[in-house]
Amino acid sequence: MKLAFVLNGKPVELDIEPQETLAEVLRNRCHLTGLKISCEVQVCGSCTTLVDDLPVSACTYLAYEARGRRVTTIEGLSEGQPLHPIQQAFLDEFAFQCGFCTPGMILMAKALLLENPNPTDFDLVAYTDGNLCRCTGYRPILKAIRRAASLMREPEAARP
Ligand code: FES
Ligand code: FES
Repeated sequence: MKLAFVLNGKPVELDIEPQETLAEVLRNRCHLTGLKISCEVQVCGSCTTLVDDLPVSACTYLAYEARGRRVTTIEGLSEGQPLHPIQQAFLDEFAFQCGFCTPGMILMAKALLLENPNPTDFDLVAYTDGNLCRCTGYRPILKAIRRAASLMREPEAARP
């Protein structure tokens, strides 16, 4: 079947199988391997992808459901340099080790900050609940999201 959607700002049309997940289509057909697949049962958040700016678990989201929608992957967050403020904050706060969870964490953070630019600590913990990290620990990740929130509230011209 045909699937037409907007991927990282560009219109895309593909032939897909009806049972293909968004994760499979993005990784195997679009070669966007920033998206990581781990549990494949919507538990770990490593495959988090934005569809119309909302986070979905691409491992269980049928690609066909994305028809006509805007899909954002980690590759679409910034165009080279400068990095998106959330990416920069993750670097500044050393918020990753192996990096496997990081694309999903960053996209989850993007959705959170779009919805709530000034999250409390409670909001942060509640929103990140579905994204697991096996190595860094959550303190630097939460610190990075707090830093990103403050960077994103600054006017662009005042950012480093
Ligand atoms: S791989 Fe999709 S939630 Fe774990
Ligand atoms: S940095 Fe390794 S799983 Fe999070």
